[in-house]
Amino acid sequence: MTDVPAKRLFIKTYGCQMNVLDSERMADVLRPLGYAQTDSADGADLVVLNTCHIREKATEKVYSELGRMRSLKRQKAEDGGKMLVAVAGCVAQAEGEEMLRRAPVVDLVVGPQSYHRLPELIARAHRAGGERLAADFEAQEKFDALPADRAPGGVTAFLTVQEGCDRFCTFCVVPYTRGAEYSRPASAIEAEARALVARGVREITLLGQNVNAWDGEGEPGLAGLVRRLARIEGLARIRYTTSHPADMGDDLIAAHGEVEALMPYLHLPVQAGSDRVLRAMNRAHTAQSYLATIGKIRAARPDIALSGDFIVGFPGEREADFEATLALVREVNYASAFSFKYSRRPGTPAASMAGQVDEEVKAERLARLQALLDEQQRAFNAAQVGAEFDILVEKPGRHAGQVIGRSPYLQAVHCDGDERLFGAMVRVRVTGAGHNSLAASRALETA
Ligand code: SAH
Ligand code: SF4
Ligand code: F3S
Repeated sequence: MTDVPAKRLFIKTYGCQMNVLDSERMADVLRPLGYAQTDSADGADLVVLNTCHIREKATEKVYSELGRMRSLKRQKAEDGGKMLVAVAGCVAQAEGEEMLRRAPVVDLVVGPQSYHRLPELIARAHRAGGERLAADFEAQEKFDALPADRAPGGVTAFLTVQEGCDRFCTFCVVPYTRGAEYSRPASAIEAEARALVARGVREITLLGQNVNAWDGEGEPGLAGLVRRLARIEGLARIRYTTSHPADMGDDLIAAHGEVEALMPYLHLPVQAGSDRVLRAMNRAHTAQSYLATIGKIRAARPDIALSGDFIVGFPGEREADFEATLALVREVNYASAFSFKYSRRPGTPAASMAGQVDEEVKAERLARLQALLDEQQRAFNAAQVGAEFDILVEKPGRHAGQVIGRSPYLQAVHCDGDERLFGAMVRVRVTGAGHNSLAASRALETA
C-alpha cells in the first residue's frame, strides 16, 4: 500500500475481555485498509462503538453515546471530511438493523460473527454515499484486470458492458478497486457493437467483472441484451465473460438454447467444491446449487463447453475440502479452466482470516487440481476429432499456407488457407487434437 494517508480509527470498547479482543481484531482487519488507531473520536474517519449488553440500560447508553457522535460527525463534514460510525458488539447483535432506523448517525451495524466482513461493510457504506474506495487499493493486475481490447482491425473484439462488482467474495479486490456495479445502457452497447461490425468485427465478447448481473437501461437483463445484439446483421458470434453462478438466470440459460449467435461456451467460476469454503469465501452459492445450474445449462445446450476458475488453499481449507473441489470438477467435466493458489490481498477479509494454508500445501493441491483439469481439457479436445463445425478465421497460422480460427467452443483451430479467409466462417472437419488446439481440414465452405 503506497502513499495512502492514514485514516483515523477510534474504537471505544465496552464490556468484557472478549470485546477487548474483538476490538483488537477489528483494528487488525482494518489496518490494511489504511486505518490507524487514535485515542479520540474527535476528527476520526471511522468510529466503532464495540458495545456490551450486560449492564442495565446498556442499549440506552449506546444511543446517548451516538447522540454525541452526531455532533462530531457534523463537525467532520464541515471540515470537508467524512466520519463513518459503526456499532459492533452485543448491542449491535441484539438491535440489528433497528439501530440504523433509530439512530441515522449510524452507518453500519456489525455483529460479532461478521467482523471479518468489515472491509466489505465499510465499502458498502461509502457506496451508499456515492463514493468509491478505489484509491485505497493497489491495482491487482492479475486478478482485477479484464482482458485488454484486442488489436484494432481484428475480426473479434471485446466490448465492456458492465464494470465493478457488488458481490464481495472475501478473497477478491475487485469490489474495492472497481467499485459498485455499473451497467452501460443497451443503446450505447448496441451502437458500439454496430460500429465494431462496420469495421469488420464478426465476433464480440461482452465483458464485465460480473457480466451476467448486467442490468442496464433498455433490456431486462443480459439475455435481452444478447438477443438484441444477435439481430445485428454481420455479427456472427456473441460470447460473454465473466459470470457469477448466482446471477445465472433462467432467461440467460434459455438464450443458450435459442440464440444461434450465442456460442456454446461458458466461463462460470465456482472457486471451490466445499460448501464450508464457499461460505467463507462469501460466494452466495453452494456446490449443489452450482451443479444444478450446470445441469440446467446442459439441458438447454447439451454441447456447451464449460470453463471455470478455482482457488486452492483458501484459509481454512482442509484436505477433505480440497477433495470436494476435485469431486466437483469430476462431476462437471470442464473444457478448460484457470486455477490459482490463494494469495493474500491486503484489505480483503480473507487476508486476515485464521488458518492460512502453507505454500507447499497450496502448491501440492494446485498440481493435483491442474493434472485433473488438464486431463479433462485433453479429453474434451480429443472428443472433437471427426466433428464438423464452423471456425471463424482470425489470423495466419505458424506455418505458411495455414490459418488459425476459433471453434464455437473457443478452441484454436489450425487449418489450411491464406489471408483471404480472415474474417470468414469456414466449415471444417477436425482431424487432430492437442492440449491447447485442434487441427482441421476444410469441409464445404459457408458464408
Ligand atoms: N469477476 C470474476 C473474476 C474475478 S478475478 C468472477 O467473479 O469470477 C478472476 C479470478 O481470479 C477469480 O475467479 C479467482 O479464481 C481468482 N482470484 C481472485 N482473487 C484471488 C486471490 N486473492 N487469490 C487467488 N485467486 C484469486
Ligand atoms: Fe471478485 Fe468476481 Fe467475487 Fe466480484 S464476483 S468479488 S469480481 S471474484
Ligand atoms: Fe461481553 Fe457484554 Fe457481550 S459482557 S459478551 S460484551 S454483553
